[in-house]
This record gives sequence, C-alpha cells and structure tokens, in this order.
Amino acid sequence: MIEKPPLPVHNQMETRLTKRKAFFIKSCLATFCTFIFLATYSATTFLINTWFPRAEPDNPDALCPIVPKAHPDGIHSPKLIQYILNDDKFHREERDRLLGAIQIPTEVYDDMEIPKSANDSESLLKLEPRWKPFYKLHEYLEKTYPLAHKHLKVEKINHLGLVYTWKGGDSDKKPIILAAHQDVVPVQKATLDQWTYPPFKGGFDGEYLFGRGVSDCKNLLIGLLTTIELLLERGEFKPERTIILAFGYDEESRGTGAAEISKHLLSRYGADSILQIIDEGNEAYEEIEGLKLILPATGEKGYLDSVIELYTPGGHSSVPPKHTSIGIMAQLITEIENDAFSPLLTQVNPLMGELFCLAEHSPILDKDVKRNILKAQVDANANKQVVEYLDANLETKYLITTSQAIDIVEGGVKSNALPEHVSILVNSRISVEESVQDVIDKYHFHIESIAKKFNLGFILNGEEVIAPGKQGYFNYSLVEPLEPAPVSPINGESWNLFGGALRYLYEDLVFPKSNDTFIVAPFLSTGNTDTKSYWDLSRNIYRYQPGLPFKHSGVHSVDERLLFDGHFHIIAFYYYYLQIIDEADDAKF
Ligand SMILES: *[C@@H]1O[C@H](CO)[C@@H](O)[C@H](O)[C@H]1NC(C)=O
Ligand SMILES: *[C@@H]1O[C@H](CO)[C@@H](O)[C@H](O)[C@H]1NC(C)=O
Ligand SMILES: *[C@@H]1O[C@H](CO)[C@@H](O)[C@H](O)[C@H]1NC(C)=O
Ligand SMILES: [Zn+2]
Repeated sequence: MIEKPPLPVHNQMETRLTKRKAFFIKSCLATFCTFIFLATYSATTFLINTWFPRAEPDNPDALCPIVPKAHPDGIHSPKLIQYILNDDKFHREERDRLLGAIQIPTEVYDDMEIPKSANDSESLLKLEPRWKPFYKLHEYLEKTYPLAHKHLKVEKINHLGLVYTWKGGDSDKKPIILAAHQDVVPVQKATLDQWTYPPFKGGFDGEYLFGRGVSDCKNLLIGLLTTIELLLERGEFKPERTIILAFGYDEESRGTGAAEISKHLLSRYGADSILQIIDEGNEAYEEIEGLKLILPATGEKGYLDSVIELYTPGGHSSVPPKHTSIGIMAQLITEIENDAFSPLLTQVNPLMGELFCLAEHSPILDKDVKRNILKAQVDANANKQVVEYLDANLETKYLITTSQAIDIVEGGVKSNALPEHVSILVNSRISVEESVQDVIDKYHFHIESIAKKFNLGFILNGEEVIAPGKQGYFNYSLVEPLEPAPVSPINGESWNLFGGALRYLYEDLVFPKSNDTFIVAPFLSTGNTDTKSYWDLSRNIYRYQPGLPFKHSGVHSVDERLLFDGHFHIIAFYYYYLQIIDEADDAKF
C-alpha cells in the first residue's frame, strides 16, 4: 500500500478561496469557462449526473446520501463480536499470531527473479533464494490456522501466491474476495538501530505493535485468517456464497503474484463474476471539517514510467557541438516541466463524491466553499474555484491532476568524451479523467519538437516517428503503463451494504456512547494496490481496512507500527460482514 495524501479540504484553503473569490468571478469569462467545462465532460457523465441525481429513498436529491446502517441481525453467535473486541486472552493470542508472521521476513526486492521462471520450489530457491521466507510463511499459516487449512481449498498460484476458497452452498451467488499481501518492503540495514524493536522480531509497548509489515499489511492477512478460523471453530456458519482469500507475494514490487491469481480466478469464475473485492487501503476513518468520514478508495490513479533516451555521435570534448546530448536532454526536461498537466475535477473522480459529503454534512465548512462544491458539476465558475483551492495545496493537487516527476537521469562517462547516450525516467500518476495515451501524446509532442530542432530521429515504443540520421535519435519507451482504475459505483446495494456495515462497526461497536453519524464517502487513491490486477473480476472493488486512526504508522519506513486495539475491528467486522453479505440478494447488485 502506498501512503495516501491526507485531507481534501483544509481551513487554509478556505481562506485562500474567500480571498480569491472576487478575482475569479471577474476573471472568468463566461464563454471561456463554459468551453473548458463542456470539453472536460463526457456527455454521458454530464447527463446522468446532472439530470438524474442518485435516487435514495430518504433524500432523493442528496449528492451524498447517508448509507443505511446494516445491522448484523440474525447472524450466528452475535456475542462473539464482543469477545473479539474485548477478550484479553484472545488479544494475547492474536498478538502472538501476528508477531509470529512479522518474524518471517518476507521482504520483496525489485530485482528478484519472478517465480514463473522456475518449475518447482527447489529450482525457484536455487534461482532466487530470497523467496525462502515465503515458504516459511506458508508453513506458519498452515500450523497457525489448522481449520482453515483443513476445510478450505488452499491453492498455491505460481508457487507463492495463496488462494483460499471456502466454497459456498449456492453456486448462483457470486463469490466475494478478500485480499491482502504476504510481502513487506525491505528494511534498510543502516536504519536498524533506529527501530524501537527489531523490525523482524517485533514488540508491543502496551498500545502499539511494532514490526515490519505490522501495518502493511500482515495485520490484515492475519486478521482475515483469524476470522475464518473463528467462524470454522464455531461451526455454525455455512456460507451460501463462496468466500475467497487472495494473498499475492509481490505487491510492493511488480505485482506478478496478484496478476497470476487474477488469471487463475478469471479462468475459474469468468469476468465480472465476483460480487465484491476488498483489499488493503485506507484505514479506519478520518475527521475532516467536523465530520467523521469512512473513506474506502473506489478508484486508483493510473501509472506510467516514461524512459526517454537520446543517442548522439561521440567525439572529443575539445571540439564539442553547441549542445551535447546532455544539453539537448536538458532542453527537453525544461519543456516537459514547463508544461505540467492541468487540474481537472469531474464527477468521475471519487474525490468529487467525498467533497459532496463534506459540503452536505459538514457543520463547519465555510458557506461559500459549500456552495461552490455543490454547484461544481453544473456551474463552470464554481468548478473553477473548487479546482483552484484543491490545486493550491500539494496534498490535494494531485487528486485532480496527472503528476510528472523526472526521477532518474543518466548520461556521460568521461570528462574528455562527448556523451553518446543520456536517458531520463519520468514517472506519472494519471488522473481518472486522463489515460496513458494522453501522457504519451504530451511527451511525444515535446520530444518531436526538440528532435526537429536538432535534426534528430525519434522512435516511440518501437515505431519510427522520425527516421534516425547522422545526428542521432530519441528512443521513448514505456514501462509499466497502467490506466486509471475503473471507478467502483457508489449508487447501489454493494456500496450500501459495505458502508452500512462499517457504520455499524464504528457507531454501535467502537463508539456506542457517541451519537455521531459516520459518513461513508468514496476516495481516490494516488497509489496502486494488488487490485490493479483484479479489475476484470468485479465492478465493486474497495481498498479499505477497518482499524483505529493513529499518527506515524511508519509504513515503508522505520518503526512501522499499529494501534493494536484497531486490529480487532478487522476481525469483528469480517465476522459479521461475511454473514451479512452471505444473505445479500445478488439481483440487487
Ligand atoms: C521447466 O520444465 C520444462 C519442461 O519440463 C523444461 O523444458 C525447462 O527447462 C524447465 N525449466 C527450468 C528452469 O528448470
Ligand atoms: C529503445 O528502447 C527499448 C527499450 O529499452 C529497446 O528495446 C530498443 O531496442 C531501443 N531501440 C533503439 C533503436 O535504440
Ligand atoms: C445521544 O442522544 C441521546 C438521545 O437523543 C441523548 O440523550 C444523549 O445525551 C446523546 N449523547 C451524546 C454523547 O451526545
Ligand atoms: Zn500494502
């Protein structure tokens, strides 16, 4: 999991907005704004969203309807929920189970040989000994969860991926997938002495549990298996709907584990065959503008690494041309950086849904800001102002804008030799309204213009745009292109049941003495999870895990930790949610 930017609306933006308001009203020529506005919307989105707002029985006009709370009435052994949340012995045992998993260092590196290249575990370990801990983890899980391993079908996909299948009694019901990953990001040796507890030993200070992977995301993996084990131990719940646990092994690097699992599940169940997929993601809830928001990510930005190389003839540096390849590349870099992507906010972006929730339900959000948000899809000027204040803050800017960062540059080898090769890598995270092709087109344009200026050739992804000549050529290749994820809908039974069950968790179980309504709103993730491989399996993909909010999680860094009480929210939630979703009527989804 990649850490998310925090709040979408800050007080400082409000003030900025109020100050700038007059200016924007004056400066925005109506015709110009209307053009931008219409140009940025697909006609369908525009029609559906402006003329047919989401129908909700309680408040048909609401842009952010409050999902009805889903009570776990009629589940087996409802008392077990309190046991999960409060029993000391159970908590100690769970702590040991989680620490046991932390103590197996399933670190994943970008340069690891992928398991596919081996036929069996022996040859895989010969090829790449660093996979060894994953086999240890499998043994550990087998030992720790005997019932799950006895009653569920356990498949190893591509050697290391784990798929657990609890077959339901009714094959007409679409299965549900709960996902997590086995791997963790490596710990840098130089940081070892900065850890409160050794990262692969772990420790508990009475409140927080420490260790690499404790938060990202062995807590989820262990929590899910503990839930299944508990349900099996009680022996009361016999699912009608098939339950699948899917655990990849390289989420933190290439994601080949989830890709192979996805192929396997697609061949078994077919496309769009899964009711819901819930993976790691946003945790717990956030307090923003006086509201408590539960924010499952319903979308993810796209991704592209653009590698742009320039080859030019070498020579002695005592008789250089006016611009060496490094100088030419510098001009390209300048052009690319001077032409940043424009911010854009349409209703396709889950952030819009989150903003609607703030505008409709926040007791303290500035009135002008509210008004602008509520009109942002029908009034170009209001949209422009909302975009302006999101754009003004680095933390929210990239929720509405494709990013570009020149992250790597290489070139030249010697002080007296002209550089014959220079390359750059530009990393882009693509906003939901744009595509990989939009990003390529932009760099294509700039490379072509510089190539023409210096009489250079240009090859784009193996295709010749300008034939290479004596002066040399650009070679632009694409690495790991990923389109923005399809956005999961929030106007139906799937969202309502998931969100409604989460409301029950926080309102009735975690904070029974408070009267706060938790608002469930969609969210856009700027990073990617294993769900990037699962799009074809389900329309309803949520990246979210229950827990308690806390600061400084140390994810991907020193002293990764977890507020341990929150861990039991995962188990309590899935204990009843799996029973609720079992009963759900697929026809309504
Ligand atoms: C895997 O098995 C195939 C077929 O038996 C064989 O051709 C191939 O060389 C094997 N690969 C490795 C890496 O052992
Ligand atoms: C361009 O780059 C790609 C990717 O590195 C490489 O496979 C290809 O051979 C290069 N083409 C030329 C003409 O340099
Ligand atoms: C919650 O609501 C009840 C009934 O309206 C009221 O008696 C109680 O004081 C409220 N509690 C809090 C913490 O606001
Ligand atoms: Zn993760």
